[in-house]
Amino acid sequence: MIPRVRKAVFPAAGLGTRFLPATKAMPKEMLPLVDKPLIQYGIEEAVQSGIHNIVIVTGRGKSAIEDHFDVSFELEQLLESRGKTSLLAAVRGISDMIDVAYIRQKEALGLGHAVLRARELVGPEPFAVVLSDDVIDAPTPCLRQLTAVHDAYLCPVLALMEVPGDKISSYGVVDAELVEDGATGGRLFRIHDLVEKPAPQDAPSNLAIIGRYILTPDIFDSLDTIQPGSGGEIQLTDGLRHLLRSRPIYGLKFEGRRFDAGDKLGFLKATVEFALKRPGLGESFRDYLKTIRVE
Ligand code: G1P
Repeated sequence: MIPRVRKAVFPAAGLGTRFLPATKAMPKEMLPLVDKPLIQYGIEEAVQSGIHNIVIVTGRGKSAIEDHFDVSFELEQLLESRGKTSLLAAVRGISDMIDVAYIRQKEALGLGHAVLRARELVGPEPFAVVLSDDVIDAPTPCLRQLTAVHDAYLCPVLALMEVPGDKISSYGVVDAELVEDGATGGRLFRIHDLVEKPAPQDAPSNLAIIGRYILTPDIFDSLDTIQPGSGGEIQLTDGLRHLLRSRPIYGLKFEGRRFDAGDKLGFLKATVEFALKRPGLGESFRDYLKTIRVE
């Protein structure tokens, strides 16, 4: 029987320094894109990919995330008494669809360390990792694209995207070889090596890792073994590099548009694009944008 991907880990303990002062008292995962917090886009992508067990790795000052995915009696009663049924459905919807557990990452020791914290909650089964800063707009949810590859190859699968040379050192980068695979039409790669945030001249390719991963439980032993890497942190990329010694790892150039909402410009682009697509808002927003004169 194929071990199905049922769980997704959301590292959310970062300090959000790029959005200060907005993130002084509010987690960056709660910054709203149109009218939903960033992390909810990732969670909805997981649900649309058949993943309903959510593990959020939080830290100090992140209780707003827990409240957001909890039931709010007062709010629901108020909306109900005022007959605001669609708002009520929007407020209730997401917490009804998921089963969420929280674990603390007491110190910000890196993405690999955050994933390792989820070990007990994940157990011996494959799982997804979602970095909610990466918001992906895709016809088929990105996680579903990755789980399809996982189910065929029973190996870890990373989301990949080509990025320009001057941006490559902001990412984990792979050395990879195209795999003949009918189902993915020339977008599947077998990974030979990975390096976290290389200097441009040391990057093995222009294929960057984007924040969607399907991992197998043996990653935990690798993460437990490796030493701190780039930035003095336990890097997930380094854990995968270690795991590559004992099993194949694949990468998929996913279909869809990715926004780096962890960056101010990327966040603004995502806001504009998602607002334009939103029923009941997009049209008047488009009309407004047409009135702006940009030199
Ligand atoms: C993390 C990962 C990196 C990956 C990136 C994608 O880096 O460490 O390998 O390419 O996410 O967004 P961060 O952006 O958290 O520094």
